Amino acid sequence: MRPEPNGARGPRDDDVTITPCADGPLLVRGDFRIVDPDGTPIDPGRDTVALCRCGRSGRKPFCDGTHQRVRFAAGPSAHRCAASD
Ligand code: FES
Repeated sequence: MRPEPNGARGPRDDDVTITPCADGPLLVRGDFRIVDPDGTPIDPGRDTVALCRCGRSGRKPFCDGTHQRVRFAAGPSAHRCAASD
C-alpha cells in the first residue's frame, strides 16, 4: 500500500485486503493470485474468496462452511463477517 498524496495510507484499486472473520475464514479481496505449493495457479472463480483457516474444509484452500459445524474458535480479535462482506 502506497501513501496517499496527503501522506495517509488508504486502499488502492490494486490492493489486496484480507479480513479475518470471527471464528471463520479469511476473506480475501482485490487483485490477488492463488497458487499451489508448486506454483500452479488455482482459479478462485471470483473476485472475493473465503480461505479456510480452521483446517477442516472439504474444498481447501477455500472455506466450505465446516468451521461452523466444528465450532472453530479463532480468538477474540477477528471481524464479524456478513455474507455480503
Ligand atoms: S474456515 Fe470455513 S471451513 Fe475452515
